[in-house]
Amino acid sequence: DAITKGGYSHFMLKEIMDQPESIYNSMRGRLVFDEGIAKLGGLQGFEDRILNSRRILISACGTSWHAGLVGEYMLEQFAEIPVEVDYASEFRYRNPIVTKDDTVIFISQSGETADTLAALKEAKKKGALCLGICNVVGSSIARESHAGVYIHAGPEIGVASTKAFTSQLVVLSLITLLLARRKSMSLEEGREVITELQSLPEKVEKILKQNSLIEELAEKYLLAKNFLYLGRGYNFPVALEGALKMKEISYIHAEGYPAAEMKHGPIALIDYDMPVIFIATKDFVYDKVVSNIQEVKARKGRIIAIVNEDDTQIEKMVNHVIRVPKTHSILTPILTVIPLQLLAYHVAVKKGLNVDQPRNLAKSVTVE
Ligand code: G6P
Repeated sequence: DAITKGGYSHFMLKEIMDQPESIYNSMRGRLVFDEGIAKLGGLQGFEDRILNSRRILISACGTSWHAGLVGEYMLEQFAEIPVEVDYASEFRYRNPIVTKDDTVIFISQSGETADTLAALKEAKKKGALCLGICNVVGSSIARESHAGVYIHAGPEIGVASTKAFTSQLVVLSLITLLLARRKSMSLEEGREVITELQSLPEKVEKILKQNSLIEELAEKYLLAKNFLYLGRGYNFPVALEGALKMKEISYIHAEGYPAAEMKHGPIALIDYDMPVIFIATKDFVYDKVVSNIQEVKARKGRIIAIVNEDDTQIEKMVNHVIRVPKTHSILTPILTVIPLQLLAYHVAVKKGLNVDQPRNLAKSVTVE
């Protein structure tokens, strides 16, 4: 046990710290800088069919579903194909209108989640092209799908998914690159994405160095009964994922919301006792997020903000900032989620909870 944890006190911490390497492994051998494209052997021969799809559906559960939401933003923006994301458990029990003109992507770390597998069988029956994005090689979802891409994150033992999530995002960005370069993404932008992908391990390393700062924040907010996570655009799914991490291992109620939706409900909850976490990197919705921060501040909410390294505006408005390097917009969630993984981890450890095996949860839900 002690050996496989590589000297860390928990698998979850090891897996968080593993991310510079696991992220690298997800892209290794798959980038062609000269052409500004990704090469994905597992999708070879299927590119045209995907590109000609009427739409792409993404089906998954839990953290993998959050990765799917990020995929929706990436694929719609750059591959210019309509995308819908569905919980596998809802997909399988509706009458999903799926035809042979659709591509359905199933995302699953384990490749064994019962609902995702059942959704895959359903989509296959209806004639859709079914792709898998899995971690476990030879798993049921990997075997049942027509084609797919392994994320190569290495074994993930902690029940709360961490490195699989960032690797799923890397693979989704590679699929986006593959398709987008055959649409309107320029060679120059393709190369820029590749350069940014290659610099991710180093940037993740920089974020991980802030571990002790995040641990101090965990100490400060340990007794909170609720947390609110807010983000927009690419950072909205990160808000959901940050909140899920907190719930899963710390047993603290946490909600993720698109920051602009705050005024339609959650704002009523905000007071001094409700820490609010903003994911507020510089992108096309930055100014909007800044005004959302002002609204929370006006209601005495205590704010932790995930901001870019060069941000000077937000630090004046909030209680704490955690800084992350800048990257291409589609890769932002890979960086912004990491402080949230560490925050949930430290809160759980300080509360004396079983981080690797939280109560009532399973690593892989193979029954309904
Ligand atoms: C369980 C795990 C989560 C995971 C979800 C989906 O709930 O505790 O960490 O995100 O299943 O699992 P999958 O293997 O399909 O990605």
